[in-house]
Amino acid sequence: MSSRREKTADKTHEEDGRPIIEMQGIRKVYDTGKVKVEALKGVDLKIEKGEFVAIVGPSGSGKSTLMNLLGCLDTPSGGDYFIGGEKVAGLSRDQLADVRNRRVGFVFQAFNLLPQISAFENVEMPLVFGGVPPKVRRAKTAELLTKVGLGDRMDHKPTELSGGQMQRVAIARALAMDPDIVLADEPTGNLDTTSGTDIMGVFLDLWKQGSTLIVITHDLALARRASRIVEIRDGRIVSDRPAEEAA
Ligand SMILES: Nc1ncnc2c1ncn2[C@@H]1O[C@H](COP(=O)(O)OP(=O)(O)O)[C@@H](O)[C@H]1O
Ligand SMILES: [Mg+2]
Repeated sequence: MSSRREKTADKTHEEDGRPIIEMQGIRKVYDTGKVKVEALKGVDLKIEKGEFVAIVGPSGSGKSTLMNLLGCLDTPSGGDYFIGGEKVAGLSRDQLADVRNRRVGFVFQAFNLLPQISAFENVEMPLVFGGVPPKVRRAKTAELLTKVGLGDRMDHKPTELSGGQMQRVAIARALAMDPDIVLADEPTGNLDTTSGTDIMGVFLDLWKQGSTLIVITHDLALARRASRIVEIRDGRIVSDRPAEEAA
């Protein structure tokens, strides 16, 4: 975990003691020309380093919109957003991409692995783009795949892996650049119950090792394994509580 600390230490924008995520009055309006959809109607959200937050809510409630904003994949229509004290609302596309690359790891429902290359090469890719020297990145890739339980499947292509194994590769890839937060949008949505529980177990292990995780899930049984559950309905947060209090 020393690499995490070193990385945090040289983040000059970072203000000590501030939450890793701070959203204030975040709004998002999709304007498709004919109709305007107000997908988020004023979201206030603070997340501390080391939390494991599940975001739940019915389909269309704004979960993915919130996730896209949290991950700097999209810009809000209003409100303020800070990651580690760094203001991100109002940044240009290029600046946003820079924040995203430094701070966020993504896991998607459909895994989004490149099918033609091995698990190893999929995980190694962000390190290649990040300019990490070959020796360092190979060691790191092997360490990450071992961490998610795929030490013996590194040379397999995605098509030679089960859904749960593919999602483990995607999780290892998300961790490659030592992100401040890992965002997962319905990571168990394409998996059967057993594999879904299994993947939630991987997240739980990462959390115990110090990762900050935000996971969207439809499944309340899985959400209860997080440390905190944020429920969103019709573009607003309607409840926010420690997971053990969830009904
Ligand atoms: N790119 C978009 N353009 C227009 N409307 C959108 C777009 N993305 C999402 N929406 C609308 O915003 C609302 C919230 O969607 P979304 O954030 O995807 O919800 P969830 O992930 O909870 O299912 C929905 O009404 C959806 O139809
Ligand atoms: Mg969604």
